[in-house]
Amino acid sequence: MTLSVAFFCILVKMPRVKGAQAGRPSSAKRRLAEHFAAGEIITDMAKKEWKLGSPIGQGGFGCIYLADRNSSKSVGSDAPCVVKVEPSDNGPLFTELKFYQRAAKPEQIQKWIRTHKLKYLGVPKYWGSGLHDKNGKSYRFMIMDRFGSDLQKIYEANAKRFSRKTVLQLSLRILDVLEYIHEHEYVHGDIKASNLLLSHKNPDQVYLVDYGLAYRYCPEGIHKEYKEDPKRCHDGTIEFTSIDAHNGVAPSRRGDLEILGYCMIQWLSGRLPWEDNLKDPNYVRDSKIRYREDIAGLMDKCFPEKNKPDELAQYMETVRLLGYAEKPLYQKLRDALLQGLRAIGSRDDGRLDLGLVENGGPRARTATKKRKTGIESTESSVEDMECSDAQTEEATQTRSKTRKRVQK
Ligand SMILES: Nc1ncnc2c1ncn2[C@@H]1O[C@H](COP(=O)(O)OP(=O)(O)OP(=O)(O)O)[C@@H](O)[C@H]1O
Ligand SMILES: *[C@@H]1O[C@H](CO)[C@@H](O)[C@H](O)[C@H]1NC(C)=O
Repeated sequence: MTLSVAFFCILVKMPRVKGAQAGRPSSAKRRLAEHFAAGEIITDMAKKEWKLGSPIGQGGFGCIYLADRNSSKSVGSDAPCVVKVEPSDNGPLFTELKFYQRAAKPEQIQKWIRTHKLKYLGVPKYWGSGLHDKNGKSYRFMIMDRFGSDLQKIYEANAKRFSRKTVLQLSLRILDVLEYIHEHEYVHGDIKASNLLLSHKNPDQVYLVDYGLAYRYCPEGIHKEYKEDPKRCHDGTIEFTSIDAHNGVAPSRRGDLEILGYCMIQWLSGRLPWEDNLKDPNYVRDSKIRYREDIAGLMDKCFPEKNKPDELAQYMETVRLLGYAEKPLYQKLRDALLQGLRAIGSRDDGRLDLGLVENGGPRARTATKKRKTGIESTESSVEDMECSDAQTEEATQTRSKTRKRVQK
């Protein structure tokens, strides 16, 4: 539909080489404009009352506050939920909300965990949503699980490397998530470390967040057709995005798997072959296309040493063979990664093994402080807690275009 055509052309994200914080206005430049104060009570559509705590983050469009069910107590730093708040005419939270309502109801996720015999599923749970008027403005809000550090921070604190064990464990759990969201008609399209958050409580659980640009590739079970559109852009995050997205094709299941493949290479080797040319999307695309036809060459380039992660080559080969609308064999992909765990004398024991960051890494600090004082330490500094109307250029662009999508 023309709607989605417009949608895809518009959302050119700039390369995010420096991770989630790049391109944000400095806090000094931001105006403090909190939409809600700690202690404020909001009521969702199901008439549940929620109490707000302190703001913990700011995305491109709105703010995130700690939250909990209303009670006589104030919401502390150990709050189990967050609320995302955005002006109600903004697109991304609307898109994200639709995803959560369709695919992230707690009972739905619990049932999947049971029937698929999983230990957990890294899809954030949806707890409620609604509209809240304040000062003559209407805000949309959504309550979801509260998480800890994102993996980009940990990756950077760990000199931009994850061990093979870590990468394989992460990817196994991300494959669980992708299978789930794909079976619920959605693709994510922007899998990367800054969109992977650790559980607030359990450092061995990882969750995929940010469904604001997720795409419903298979509404009511009818898969979108393959159609290149020159007007569409290299959507997603340039270094990781799929060849389909580079070609301006609506994302499908194989694209998510391809993106995860590039993430694995990045996490393991610390770089990607095209990373010096991110300003040239065509170069990045052509490089990905060349390496798709020469996976052995890609492996030689990224892992020149003897001990190559063969499971990764096998993963990429399996993904390469997928048709646009083909349902991936998720278990085959997991089996390849499990083989990798065996090759390093390990197994799928559920340990993410992020403990390498013991010197000042986000997780280490959290763990220590929590043990000693019970005080949550992953919450942002006061500067980071500012919420403001000031938007990055990227956010403003995306927002104005997304609005178009919503209005049509
Ligand atoms: N459920 C959550 N629990 C804890 N922190 C979260 C949660 N969701 C997001 N965050 C953090 O809050 C910040 C803003 O999140 P949001 O999803 O609004 O970001 P975004 O719009 O994707 O922004 P950007 O793409 O610029 O990071 C990020 O640092 C993110 O890691
Ligand atoms: C919130 O909880 C408190 C204490 O249980 C109660 O007195 C109050 O009426 C509730 N609702 C609101 C809107 O404050």
